[in-house]
Amino acid sequence: MSGIDTGRPQDRGVSEIPSKQRAWHVVKRGKPSEALVLASDVPVPSKLAEGEVLVKVRAAALNPVGFKIMQLAPGFIARKPYVPEHDLAGVVVESNDPAFSNGDNVYGIIHVQLNLKTRLGALSQYTRVPACNLVLKPENLSAVDVAGIPLAALTAYQALFDIAHLESEQCLLVNGGSSAVGAFAIQMAKAKGCKVTATASAKNEEFVRGLGADEFLDYTKAPLESQLSENPPSPKFHVIFDAVGLLEPSLYTKSPAYTTADGIYVSTGPQPKALNAREMKTTAKMMWEVFLRPRWLGGTKRKWRVVSMNPKKQDLDAIAQMVSEGKVRPLIDSVFSFQDALKAYEKLKTGRAKGKVVVEVDDSVDVNG
Ligand SMILES: NC(=O)c1ccc[n+]([C@@H]2O[C@H](COP(=O)([O-])OP(=O)(O)OC[C@H]3O[C@@H](n4cnc5c(N)ncnc54)[C@H](OP(=O)(O)O)[C@@H]3O)[C@@H](O)[C@H]2O)c1
Repeated sequence: MSGIDTGRPQDRGVSEIPSKQRAWHVVKRGKPSEALVLASDVPVPSKLAEGEVLVKVRAAALNPVGFKIMQLAPGFIARKPYVPEHDLAGVVVESNDPAFSNGDNVYGIIHVQLNLKTRLGALSQYTRVPACNLVLKPENLSAVDVAGIPLAALTAYQALFDIAHLESEQCLLVNGGSSAVGAFAIQMAKAKGCKVTATASAKNEEFVRGLGADEFLDYTKAPLESQLSENPPSPKFHVIFDAVGLLEPSLYTKSPAYTTADGIYVSTGPQPKALNAREMKTTAKMMWEVFLRPRWLGGTKRKWRVVSMNPKKQDLDAIAQMVSEGKVRPLIDSVFSFQDALKAYEKLKTGRAKGKVVVEVDDSVDVNG
C-alpha cells in the first residue's frame, strides 16, 4: 500500500522478545498517583490466539476513560493488577494473523472491555492486540504522532457519521473543538465538506480555526446557549456534537433556537465531576430533560444521543485512510517519557490539553520510526 511503512525486522531493528518487561500497573483504585506503580518483572504475553499480534509499543496515548476507570471502577470490574490505557503505536514482533508480519509499524486500540478482560493495556513495553484493531502506520508520521488517533478519532467518526449521519454541506457545531475528540471531529467534518462552528476558550481560537473551523465561539464569554439564541446561525445547525460531555443540559434544551427541526445533539457522555450535592442536582436535571420529560410537558423537540466508542474495523480503516491522505492530522499536546507517565496523567487531568497527551514507551528508537 503506497505511503505505508511495511519495513521488515532486519530493516527495523526488532530485537529478540524478552520474557519480562516494564509496565505500568494499576494496583489499587484511586487517582493515577495513588493507583499506579511501574513494575519491571511483568511477563511479556507469550501465547497469541488466532488473529492476535504481539506489538512492541513505541508510544501510548492517554484518554480520560483511563483515569476514570482507575478512580471509579470497582475491583470486580477492573481486576488488579492491570495495565492501563488503550491507544498505542509500535512494531509487530510476532503475528498470528495474515494481515501483519514482523516488523510492520502499526497503531491501534485495546478497547476498554478487552483491557478489563485481559488486563493488558498500552502502557507496557509489549502488548497483545487483535489484528482487527490495528492499522499500518503511514511513513510520514511517527509512532508518537499516530498513537493518539484511534480512540478519540473513532469517537468523533462514529458520533458524526454513524449516529448523526452528517452529510456534506450540512452545518455542525463542535462543542470543545480543542479537545482530542473535538479536534478530530472538526477535521472530519471539513473533509466531508461541512460548515463547522467550534467552541473553545479564547486562547484556543487560532488552534480550532487552524483545524478548519469556519466560525468560533468562546464558551467562557457567555453561556453558549445564550450566544447562539441571541445570534442564531443561518442556516441552523443540523448536528451539535458535544465533545466535552456537558452535564448541564442547557445547550441541548435551548437547541430548537439554533438547530434544524430534524437536528440532532450527540454527546460524548455527560458525567458528574464529583459526587457532591450540586453535581447530583445537575445530573438529575440532565436526566429529566434528556430521558424523561415528554415533549407535551415542554421536553426538547430535538433528538439527543450519546456516542459509545466501538473499535469497528471498518471505521478504523476509514480513519487510517483519512490520516494517510492527510485529510486528518493527529494533534499532540505533549509527550512524556515512560517513567514520567504520572506527569502525563497530571497534564491530561487538567482538562486543558490541546490534542493528545502521549507517553513515549520506547525511547531507544528514533521517534520517526
Ligand atoms: N463516549 C465515548 O465513547 C468517549 C470516547 C472518548 C472520549 N469521551 C469523553 O469525551 C470527553 C473529551 O475527551 P477528550 O479526550 O477529547 O478530552 P481532552 O482532550 O482532555 O479535553 C480537553 C479540552 O477540552 C476543552 N474543554 C474543557 N471544557 C470545555 C468546555 N466547557 N467547553 C469547551 N471546551 C472545553 C479544553 O479547552 P479549554 O482549555 O479551551 O477549556 C481542552 O482543550 C471526555 O469527557 C471523555 O471522557 C467519551
